[in-house]
Amino acid sequence: MIRHEIDFLVVGSGIAGLSFALRVASKGKVAVITKKKDSESNTNYAQGGIASVIKSEDSFEKHINDTLQAGRGLCHDDVVRVIVEHGPDAIRKLIDLGVAFSHTGDRSSLENLDAGQEGGHSAKRVVHAADYTGREVETRLLAAIKASPNITLYEDHLAVELIVDSAAGKTNCYGCHVFDAISGEIKAFAARVTLLATGGLGQVYVHTTNPSIATGDGVAMAYRAGASIANMEFMQFHPTALYHPEGDYFLISEAVRGEGARLKLKSGETFMENYHEQKDLAPRDVVAKAIDRELKLSGDPCVYLDLTPIKSDYIMRRFPNIYNRLLGLGIDITRDPIPVVPAAHYMCGGIRTDVRGKTDIGRLYAVGETACTGMHGANRLASNSLLEAVVVAEFAAESALDTFDSTISLGIPKLLEKYMEDSGNSVGEHEEVLISHSKSELRRHMWHYVGVVRSNERLNRAWKRLEILTEETEDFHHRYPPSFGAIELRNLVTAAQLIVRSAMLRKESRGLHYNVDYPETDDINWRYDTILRKDD
Ligand code: FAD
Ligand code: SIN
Repeated sequence: MIRHEIDFLVVGSGIAGLSFALRVASKGKVAVITKKKDSESNTNYAQGGIASVIKSEDSFEKHINDTLQAGRGLCHDDVVRVIVEHGPDAIRKLIDLGVAFSHTGDRSSLENLDAGQEGGHSAKRVVHAADYTGREVETRLLAAIKASPNITLYEDHLAVELIVDSAAGKTNCYGCHVFDAISGEIKAFAARVTLLATGGLGQVYVHTTNPSIATGDGVAMAYRAGASIANMEFMQFHPTALYHPEGDYFLISEAVRGEGARLKLKSGETFMENYHEQKDLAPRDVVAKAIDRELKLSGDPCVYLDLTPIKSDYIMRRFPNIYNRLLGLGIDITRDPIPVVPAAHYMCGGIRTDVRGKTDIGRLYAVGETACTGMHGANRLASNSLLEAVVVAEFAAESALDTFDSTISLGIPKLLEKYMEDSGNSVGEHEEVLISHSKSELRRHMWHYVGVVRSNERLNRAWKRLEILTEETEDFHHRYPPSFGAIELRNLVTAAQLIVRSAMLRKESRGLHYNVDYPETDDINWRYDTILRKDD
């Protein structure tokens, strides 16, 4: 088996992984592995921007308060405070890396940056690069990574399983087994520190804004290795994904509503005033639920987003990405209403960590969408995820550097062989079509039974179907040599199980988890995180 020995192993090349890699590279050899091409990540598709207090009329207290309100009682106050207070510093560091945020006047003063408005925010504070913020950030981070002599980037390398060892009641991580998608081999990346920065899991649902990489690999690997997983019932559905046969659930940024666009029914009537005082700019859980209700009442397949209150030339300048993409589909957003529906967007739960990204496995960190620090509680405030990822990556890197021990032995042959004994010795060819069928079955079940509105009956149905899929995918895993599709499917099924189990445990409605059988929020019995571990 090919074996690499490095100091720091980073799994994932989105904002979390790349930020961490840049920071630790001063002290050791870093490998960044990523399962497709380097920029393919949720980060690359981010539109709205990064929430941070940059204007004198805004304040940390307001941003903290908005985050806590959106999180419906489950945010960890201390985590929210420290992340919000480090926002301006994180924005400055990104500017120093060359990120060209939209601005007027001198870019070195944060006051001159343009700040967008999004749902649940009481002030304009979303720093952005037009409506392609993620692409701009990802491009600059990758350029810096490629210029660093201590960092090697491995594309088409899919992490499969963490290498862990338990002794004296403590589990430690020594890196990862990795599937090389080009050669088809399993390799061992042995590391003194490992970071999971594998992003989200929107692909668990058939309708999602997430690209194909978002299959919950980090959460599934960490769960199998014994880490605690928190709050998986809180899947955020973005209210406005494009509804179009060729649109592939392309996101229509909330920033569009921040500039004055209105949600309307087919009749042309607005409706958000019936649901929340902040109308179209209410927090996401409220807007997604309102649209879901209106669609059920009317039987229509979508609602519409009307941008005509915004001047045409401003639309083209402020939202060039959305404008051009939709024009290509025959929709001129300066005059035509955009058909939209909610779609799975962001996982608020994940691998439980502290604010330094530390998991409960030694030498294993998790940062970004795969992690759950307590920042987002039961519902993430818009544009708080890029903020959390970049700030916590910095804290995690500091913590890893503080405790870094270059003398830790990586001579762990018994662990390296274990993966092959468990799975990889099998031979034979499987039919890839079985994997794609199971995947589409899973994604449809999750959409129909574990969506915006849940019930005990729907959750029970989902669970029963997942039991069958679990049995089949585990059988597959043991009988056949690894393949990209089979590895991802196994992780998707594990992620779906964690979502459904968490949703079944929470006998109340809160934020993004709405169960018609328990419609009220119950602060006396349920104001705590849902934690799952493999051995519980
Ligand atoms: P990602 O950026 O998703 O990166 C994960 C990386 O891990 C990828 O490189 C992936 O290929 C790799 N990977 C995954 N599994 C494996 C594996 N097994 N082995 C190797 N590599 C692996 N948030 C905001 O704050 N503001 C916004 O405006 C915003 N807009 C968004 C718009 C869209 C369309 C989407 C989908 C999300 C948006 N979000 C936004 C959310 C935000 O983009 C993500 O939460 C954030 O980018 C996650 O960063 P990350 O580094 O944790 O993960
Ligand atoms: C958006 O631009 O609407 C997405 C922002 C986010 O998900 O935080």
